[in-house]
Amino acid sequence: MSNYTNKNISSPACPIYHQHLSEQFTAELVEPVDCPIEKDSFGVWHIRGYEQAQAVLRSDCVRQAGFQAEMLDKLPNYMNPPILFLEGELHQKQRRQTAKFFTPRTTDRQYRQLMQDFSEEIVADFKRAGRADLSQMSMDMAVGVAAQVVGLTDSRRKGMSGRIDRFLQQSPTDFGWGFRQIKSFLRTQFDLLRFYLLDVQPAIKARQAAPKEDVISHLLASHYTNVEIMTECITYGAAGMVTTREFIGVAMWHCLKNPELHQLMLNADQKTRYAFLHELLRLEPVVGSLYRRTTDDLILDHGTSKVTIAAGSLIELHIYAINGQESVVGQKPLQLCPNREMVERRPKVAEYVMSFGDGPHRCPGAYIAIQESDIFLRRILKLEGIRIEQSPTVTYNQTVKGYELRNFIIAVD
Ligand code: HEM
Repeated sequence: MSNYTNKNISSPACPIYHQHLSEQFTAELVEPVDCPIEKDSFGVWHIRGYEQAQAVLRSDCVRQAGFQAEMLDKLPNYMNPPILFLEGELHQKQRRQTAKFFTPRTTDRQYRQLMQDFSEEIVADFKRAGRADLSQMSMDMAVGVAAQVVGLTDSRRKGMSGRIDRFLQQSPTDFGWGFRQIKSFLRTQFDLLRFYLLDVQPAIKARQAAPKEDVISHLLASHYTNVEIMTECITYGAAGMVTTREFIGVAMWHCLKNPELHQLMLNADQKTRYAFLHELLRLEPVVGSLYRRTTDDLILDHGTSKVTIAAGSLIELHIYAINGQESVVGQKPLQLCPNREMVERRPKVAEYVMSFGDGPHRCPGAYIAIQESDIFLRRILKLEGIRIEQSPTVTYNQTVKGYELRNFIIAVD
């Protein structure tokens, strides 16, 4: 039972939030409604309907086409691709074998204390300085936590979050012989090599000597090579670290802008807080688009008719639109409502709708991300006099297809 008693929030209609600062902060454009499926003039299919999105993500005749997956086709085919790009039986096997690192029980038992310790450390630095860039603090937090899950804990030098940030920041330029392209290519190679030598290689060596309960130890037991382990670490960097960093940023922005939300995060019970964080993630999905390519003809329902998407087609799933469908999430879908009453459906739709994906590639790190955000946000929000000194700038990352909040300066007395 929640000990949170603010009447404004406990009313199902959430009157306060629907009148004040509870709108979306990060959408790049206004998505059309009533356009569940369409094909553009380049032959790309666009999905904005919940049912259609679920059918695509659960289909066994699609493969990953986001996160620059198709650049991976250029890798030698004797290499094990990272989990995000595996499909079928091999993918299921990897998910089954790594599931133990991500269960709610493991997340609570194994990672809660370390999440609290990381938060304390980061907040201690912040208090000493009096002001800091939250986007840097949230990156340190997200990298620290995901690094434990993956097993990147034996770095030769401090500063892993900066190294990961550098290579994930590079824009996906096509290969070419222009000066700018060669420079960017060499810089990426250098950043990757540095990450490998300083972070990945020592982690591998330590686990070859003494395996632990983490992803790298599991990959070594599955005979992955060093290069394959490195690619998996980069995948976790993009999938687990960057995403959680942005989510913490957007959640802090809403909480510091709206005192009601600030109070909710401090005083409500865990169930209410998690429901609020899920609702926030629904409204501000960190991964704005998912992509798939059909490997066979795919037939989707469209009202009373059927649409066939031919084999080999590219599909973009628009997460902002899917998460904002009134017929799924109820009234005022583009507003933040901590007490949102979703439209009743069987089976129930997740509170965050598609922000963690769906089907076989659904995010395994969902519990970790929410628990970690909750702990970190609460630790900062409880500081006396915590305030925004400079609101963040919002730009968009082309690899994750999501927003990036930068130069978010917060201060404390
Ligand atoms: C708020 C934070 C997060 C968000 C919004 C998020 C979102 C997503 C989404 C949408 C996918 C599905 C991609 C697709 O189907 O194409 C995904 C996959 C994945 N996520 Fe997360 N994620 C978050 C945090 C994490 C964390 C903390 C970890 C690990 C420590 C993690 C690890 C992964 C992995 C390994 C995959 C690939 C799974 C597979 O392909 O089977 N994520 N994530």
